[in-house]
Amino acid sequence: MTDQNLDDFRTRCQARVESALDEILPPASVLPTRLHEAMRYTVLGTGKRIRPLLVYATGAALGVEADRLDRPASAVEMIHAYSLIHDDLPAMDDDDLRRGRPTCHRAFDEATAILAGDALQTLAFQALAEAPGLSAESRVGMVAALARASGARGMVGGQAMDLAAEGTPLDLVMLENIHIHKTGALIRASVQMGILAHGELTPDRAERLDHYAKCLGLAFQIQDDVLDVEGETAEIGKTAGRDQALDKATYPALVGLAEAKEMASHLIGEAMASVEVFGPDADPLRWIASALLDRKS
Ligand code: IPE
Ligand code: IPE
Ligand code: MG
Ligand code: MG
Ligand code: MG
Repeated sequence: MTDQNLDDFRTRCQARVESALDEILPPASVLPTRLHEAMRYTVLGTGKRIRPLLVYATGAALGVEADRLDRPASAVEMIHAYSLIHDDLPAMDDDDLRRGRPTCHRAFDEATAILAGDALQTLAFQALAEAPGLSAESRVGMVAALARASGARGMVGGQAMDLAAEGTPLDLVMLENIHIHKTGALIRASVQMGILAHGELTPDRAERLDHYAKCLGLAFQIQDDVLDVEGETAEIGKTAGRDQALDKATYPALVGLAEAKEMASHLIGEAMASVEVFGPDADPLRWIASALLDRKS
């Protein structure tokens, strides 16, 4: 697949998920308007949409039609958006900027931000449960997979470990465990959505895609840590070195910047190898993996 094809793929997927989200989210004109405005403010028109892209790219590798993936892609993105709203709250990372604009609690207020996060979370599961074009079995499987990835044994558990680890020395195993949960779980769930939309994948092929997702998820968070140190986000003070200010363990802090980058690139190589058997249909998955290493924000 050429760069142009891949750009087209990304543009197409981003437009699909944007329009699906716009339709799923309550209109800002409907009561309670402030809550609905906060939900729409956070979700629409911004974000790289990496998780939706993974849903569509996995579907593409398996020959699943894109219109059956709009709901799962939107659901994962809404869980992600809710996790960002809560992550930025004063009780957590206390950040003022997100995606280059004021965080939800800054643009609105803390109570509204908490409730917008809550409502996005439940809306994600509703969108899956009511998804048109998917079998009941696929929908139940998706609800279960997303719930597992989002909860105490997934993203929320990772966030809890991340907060608990503040100011304490961590080794690589503990740090990896945090990352696998707080970021990796939703990335993995995104690929699971594509697998479940297909519904009849052999265990070997499902395992290969899952391995791709595991490698990608960890590489993604390593890269996020690297960008906190040297990326555009660090420059504009998005987190203003917040993770360092909080004395949080990060990959660069633990193994050094060069080794952290090396680890991310090794993981991406492993992810690529894992999807080799899918041939050219897996090109979007390959592109996402290589773009991850090049990203600047
Ligand atoms: C940022 O995720 C937070 C993490 C889980 C590391 P993204 O880098 O995917 O954020 P957006 O969605 O593009 O803003
Ligand atoms: C965010 O991790 C993870 C989740 C929201 C689940 P970080 O706190 O490291 O992400 P940024 O740096 O705020 O984007
Ligand atoms: Mg955080
Ligand atoms: Mg944060
Ligand atoms: Mg970070």
